Amino acid sequence: MAQSAGRLLSRRSAGVIGKGKISMGCLIGKTAIVTGAASGIGRAIALRFAAEGAKVIVADITHTPKEGGVPTEDLIAAAGGTAHWQHCDIAKWEDVDAMVTGAVAAWGKLDILVNNATHWTSTRLTETTNEQWRDVMGVNADGYFYCCKRAVQQMLTQPIIAEARGRIVNITSQHGMVAVPNDVAYGVGKATTVYLTRQIAADYGRDFIICNAVAPGRIITGKPGIAQDPKSLDYGRSRTPFHRLGRPEDVASAALFLASDDCTFISGENLMVDGGWMAS
Ligand SMILES: NC(=O)c1ccc[n+]([C@@H]2O[C@H](COP(=O)([O-])OP(=O)(O)OC[C@H]3O[C@@H](n4cnc5c(N)ncnc54)[C@H](O)[C@@H]3O)[C@@H](O)[C@H]2O)c1
Repeated sequence: MAQSAGRLLSRRSAGVIGKGKISMGCLIGKTAIVTGAASGIGRAIALRFAAEGAKVIVADITHTPKEGGVPTEDLIAAAGGTAHWQHCDIAKWEDVDAMVTGAVAAWGKLDILVNNATHWTSTRLTETTNEQWRDVMGVNADGYFYCCKRAVQQMLTQPIIAEARGRIVNITSQHGMVAVPNDVAYGVGKATTVYLTRQIAADYGRDFIICNAVAPGRIITGKPGIAQDPKSLDYGRSRTPFHRLGRPEDVASAALFLASDDCTFISGENLMVDGGWMAS
């Protein structure tokens, strides 16, 4: 992951043009917050956005990537990008409020919010304690609500650029649409954010707020634990028609499109990046 992150950034340094419609530098002049950006998918999104020229708030409860390696903000700075690590527990309104207020104080505006941080327990309904339920919902439901609310409050004060005052990308999951084996709170939390995405798109479309989601399938981030359990990996492979499981960069590319000025007339969408899991 650290190596591929380095490659992404060096591509920008070398001025290489990217594939397809998205070109290097498509986020120049933009400011972005990415929650849970110390690790995994959030880290890949922060690196990709910085490589495209965005100033990025790396918002997390830790600097340390779960999969190991150099902290995200240090990688970005080493490649000449602009990033600031911000301690933010998204389950706390005070932290979220301070994060958005600080970003705007430093950089003048907030163009993009990516809600990506997550928590889970890997427990079934009858084994999930009330405290575990509240902990997961505190991050995966309350946290996304806090971040969206505070970001929209800010974006509504901003001018319209490329038909938007701001763009939100919520990272959901295929498990917000179909059941996740043995992880009730995680799945319910993800379903909540799929709905939240549509509600914001509907309520704030006329205010030039664009809100979409990306639903990753099985993505290999390199973190230890359940993510590397052979049974869990076999299950992911059995459900994925594509010839491989996902990479964090697959999700970052989709998030980049939805966060960019190229994303017009698309709102309330939940874009699956799952190698065909939900198609089969
Ligand atoms: N990896 C997958 O296969 C997969 C599949 C479907 C969906 N997703 C979704 O993608 C997103 C990223 O997943 P990942 O596998 O990269 O996760 P991860 O566990 O590798 O990283 C999550 C990050 O969130 C941070 N975090 C946790 N609680 C936080 C809090 N309260 N406030 C701020 N930050 C907090 C962690 O410190 C960590 O850096 C999540 O929303 C997850 O639900 C992942």
